[in-house]
Amino acid sequence: ARLVVLVSGSGTNLQALLDACADPAYGATVVAVGADRDGIEGLARAERAGVPTFVARVKDHPTREDWDRALAEQVAAHEPDLVVLAGFMKLVGADFLARFGGRTVNTHPALSPSFPGMHGPADALAYGVKVTGATLFVVDAGVDTGAIVAQTAVPVEDDDDVDSLHERIKTAERAMLVETVGRMAREGYAVDGRRVRLGA
Ligand code: GRF
Repeated sequence: ARLVVLVSGSGTNLQALLDACADPAYGATVVAVGADRDGIEGLARAERAGVPTFVARVKDHPTREDWDRALAEQVAAHEPDLVVLAGFMKLVGADFLARFGGRTVNTHPALSPSFPGMHGPADALAYGVKVTGATLFVVDAGVDTGAIVAQTAVPVEDDDDVDSLHERIKTAERAMLVETVGRMAREGYAVDGRRVRLGA
């Protein structure tokens, strides 16, 4: 399967996918990496792996809708089977979803439907939950609301701060992402309303 991965930051989830894809048995290849900003480690990781990159900045477009359309065009040029948002800090819009809805997944550092949005680890810590985790979901128009493909649970320790908790979540998140994207690529999947089945 052809993967296009979109990133906005350090790209450790991307790196985990790049490493997994080095094994032909994994069943997927990262054919391009896109970002909404320059100068990030995620793009450097792609370049080091010899994977083509592109950047679509919101501020280079007159409206958010124009940006969304341009992003979708750049993704489409690489003919992905699956688009993986891996720490991509923008919401994709209607044009993007019209083209890639149902085959775009995102990872969120909390157990949905708890703590949607930008601050999953901090919100979990502030609430005082003892278990949190990460969720891989099929992207829809909402914020972290899409149909759930996989989840992984992580304990909250008494002495955690946001960074230590997020690091523990990210370790589990990377493993879940690699395992689940591999299964989607090799076995297929079916989205039936909110229910996602692997191996369909
Ligand atoms: C991940 O925890 C992702 O879920 C969150 O931001 C982090 C991105 O990490 N939204 P990285 O860029 O893959 O290292």
